[in-house]
Amino acid sequence: MSHGRFDNPVVATLTGILDLFRKQKLSERLTDKDRIDGKTCIVTGANSGLGFAISVDLAKRGGEVIMACRSQIPEAGEKVKALSGSGNVRMMRLDLSDLDSVHEFCQHLESEKIRTDLLVLNAGVASPKAKKTAAGLDEIFQVNYLANFILLNLLINDGVIPNASCNGNRKPGTPASRVIFISSDSHQGSSAIDHDEFGKFFDYGIKKGMNNYSYYKLVLNTLAVEFSKRINTKETDVSMNVICPGPVNTNIIRSAPWIVRVILRGIFTIFFQSPARAAKPVIYMGISEDYTNKTGEYLHMFNQKEMDPKVYDPEEGKRLWDHSTEIWNKIDPKARVCEF
Ligand SMILES: NC(=O)c1ccc[n+]([C@@H]2O[C@H](COP(=O)([O-])OP(=O)(O)OC[C@H]3O[C@@H](n4cnc5c(N)ncnc54)[C@H](OP(=O)(O)O)[C@@H]3O)[C@@H](O)[C@H]2O)c1
Repeated sequence: MSHGRFDNPVVATLTGILDLFRKQKLSERLTDKDRIDGKTCIVTGANSGLGFAISVDLAKRGGEVIMACRSQIPEAGEKVKALSGSGNVRMMRLDLSDLDSVHEFCQHLESEKIRTDLLVLNAGVASPKAKKTAAGLDEIFQVNYLANFILLNLLINDGVIPNASCNGNRKPGTPASRVIFISSDSHQGSSAIDHDEFGKFFDYGIKKGMNNYSYYKLVLNTLAVEFSKRINTKETDVSMNVICPGPVNTNIIRSAPWIVRVILRGIFTIFFQSPARAAKPVIYMGISEDYTNKTGEYLHMFNQKEMDPKVYDPEEGKRLWDHSTEIWNKIDPKARVCEF
């Protein structure tokens, strides 16, 4: 059974580095003059790495940035303000491994009547081994996948992401709000969703931990396609697209064993892109007119691509939706799945 590029970290790293030398066909579609003045942008996992760089870039371009983070509050926000020269930056607490925190975050946004123009689902972990959350789930399953399912359902139900389909608060004629799923091209070739194991906690070591990273990106991408299909039946109501930023020199390997960390840190520093550079295609997808009312698209850095064919399988999408709903209902009395 194949688990995609992350089966072997050496191949994964080399492939990622080679990707950096490919022509970036759409890179000139984004210029420093492109703006997002006055638009409300939420970035999860914004205190570090890619999410931090996305926040700085959006703030520089006039966006009102909400950094949704579980740590470095308020220091990271102060840094984003200083680097962007914008005062329109605030931080809100969000721990995706904690259901109460997800609910509190969504309630906070709703109580302030915040309407989101751009949501970047960026937060993620690369856990080398199993770790149980308070809800009894594996951390990577909850943080990299299920919490995003929950977050989107709550924000759409409550109209924090304006929409006609579930809340009815989208103003006619306005462009659809955008949701961007930060993924990884390592999902290509990953094994199909295993519904017997799905959401169940069991112990595993580093090999499965590495496979899990690309596997849950495949699961996330399948959700993006399924959610987009459900909410955008006639025209685009909420635009939902997926992107892989390419290899980025960040802290993503922080939980790896020390020897792996030391080796990869050197490779990351020498070969990988800076977060500021890797943020550019995300900004392009988030603000460019090229993506107005576009949905179900995938960018691998600045190149348009297809995702793994499994991601587009409608039966798999429905099964994933039903299974995720079932798990959410089981662990959370406040579960509210969007009805279309
Ligand atoms: N680095 C790469 O080469 C690469 C390539 C492709 C895709 N990506 C994707 O890019 C995204 C950002 O990763 P990164 O590379 O920038 O790594 P990073 O620097 O480690 O950033 C990850 C972010 O996610 C947050 N996070 C982790 N667990 C969380 C939780 N339970 N609740 C809320 N936030 C949580 C982290 O917060 P704390 O600081 O509090 O832990 C941090 O802000 C991820 O989705 C990753 O899969 C990265």
